[in-house]
Amino acid sequence: MAQETNRSGNLYGGTADPCAVVLFGASGDLAKRKVIPAMYDLATHNSLGSRYVIVGFARTAMNDEQFRATTGEAAKTMSELGPVDPKQWGEFASCLYYSSGDYADPQAYEHLARRLAELEADKKLSGNRLFYLSTPPEVYPHIVEQLGRAGLSRPSSPNSWVRIIIEKPFGRDLATAKELNKTVLNVFEEQQVYRIDHYLGKDTVQNLLVLRFGNGIFEPLWNRNYVDNVQITAAETLGVERRGGFYETAGALRDMIQSHVLQLTSLVAVEPPASFDANSVRNEKLKVLQSIRPFDLEAVAQSVVRGQYAPGVLDGKALPGYREEQNVSPTSRTETFVAARLLIDNWRWAGVPFYLRTGKRLAKRSTEIMIQFRCAPHIVFRDREVEPNRLVLNIQPEEGISVSFGAKRPGTEMRIGNVTMNFSYKEGFGEASRSAYATLVNDCLRGDATLFDRGDNVEAAWALVDPILDVWSAARTGKVPEYQAGSWGPRESDHLLERDGKQWFNP
Ligand code: BG6
Repeated sequence: MAQETNRSGNLYGGTADPCAVVLFGASGDLAKRKVIPAMYDLATHNSLGSRYVIVGFARTAMNDEQFRATTGEAAKTMSELGPVDPKQWGEFASCLYYSSGDYADPQAYEHLARRLAELEADKKLSGNRLFYLSTPPEVYPHIVEQLGRAGLSRPSSPNSWVRIIIEKPFGRDLATAKELNKTVLNVFEEQQVYRIDHYLGKDTVQNLLVLRFGNGIFEPLWNRNYVDNVQITAAETLGVERRGGFYETAGALRDMIQSHVLQLTSLVAVEPPASFDANSVRNEKLKVLQSIRPFDLEAVAQSVVRGQYAPGVLDGKALPGYREEQNVSPTSRTETFVAARLLIDNWRWAGVPFYLRTGKRLAKRSTEIMIQFRCAPHIVFRDREVEPNRLVLNIQPEEGISVSFGAKRPGTEMRIGNVTMNFSYKEGFGEASRSAYATLVNDCLRGDATLFDRGDNVEAAWALVDPILDVWSAARTGKVPEYQAGSWGPRESDHLLERDGKQWFNP
């Protein structure tokens, strides 16, 4: 197998090896909205090179031309890409192929293997293959087993590689995540497996590591001696849209906290890795997850709040409640909001509360991390109205960093005002961030797994949320607090912080 390399330094790190990408679930929403546009983005930035093919695989019967036409239609509406250049799209589309079949049918994989061999011979590819699983999670085990059975999981020569990207959700609790890891690792080696969490592909999320470990001024303060509390908010204004069916089986804890929000928590809390490579970074992130104090029955009652959106108004528009959404049960108890208070039991963070919250149909779309510092130990001025210092990392939609501090108000009196210093990505670097998917696919094509999850990390995250799921499912009659669409969540979420004498910092 080709040597797995470390993370490359520049935007896309040069041109990838010639390769064939097989995209399972190619006719689905995620493939059309995110994965194919990301590939197009890589192709137009010459990061895919000139020798590649992308073979879509799904149950829908289609030929190559129909696949090119439907993905072309979808690509035109991709806001992330900006306008699609017809000539560049034409060149890219000529590398798209399609193979239909049932995910559990061995013959479909024999056919796929033949098709791949023909295309590789035709395009003089060197046998490198990336399998991308963008299907409903129930079929992951079938695909993995069939790839193994068809002999597609092993490289065909010592100089070629085979890798697999697996979308979230990776399992729906600890037991199913372990089962899936077992199935995958029966067929693939761990270093071939790339478990994707698209938050790790966002520039501003990666910037968290640069901010902490590329500068001298922040890290000395980044601990229990100076930090009062940390707040991580992933707020969406959207509801469940057309995903009611899926969301009913997931809920905000599984959909956002287990994955994206715990990823952000790990990066805020992580110790400096020995180097910036997949194993060092993931070893350190694992230690954070293992240091988070587990939730027992009492901790769930005291430190975790769930909520469900009721009808409300956002930007002057009346919005339905969750239970009125398409494919949602009118008696649903699925949570669309979670707030939790975590404690990290290690030397750096002992006693510092981490407050996490996420929800749909909240007042504002905003993902941000707020580090609130302890106040000055003694204020010598007569004006004692000094706000605590805050460092806010805006992850989306505005990407940037701000620091707030007290400054003397102009005038004869010694009065203090709270001011903010802002850094905006757009103004600072003058270019838009790339799509998270393009970054991650690009890394995978180069064998860099730093920004992907390892099997043990995924299991550690499930081990944390599992007890919460257990308590909630045992309390089948307990009330799920409601919040109005367009608000900042249920009142219980504010009480969670008020009990500690704190309050949410609303973006
Ligand atoms: C996905 C969740 O993983 O992340 C969605 O399944 C959520 O429910 C989405 O809307 C949020 O991603 P982003 O990049 O828009 O913050």
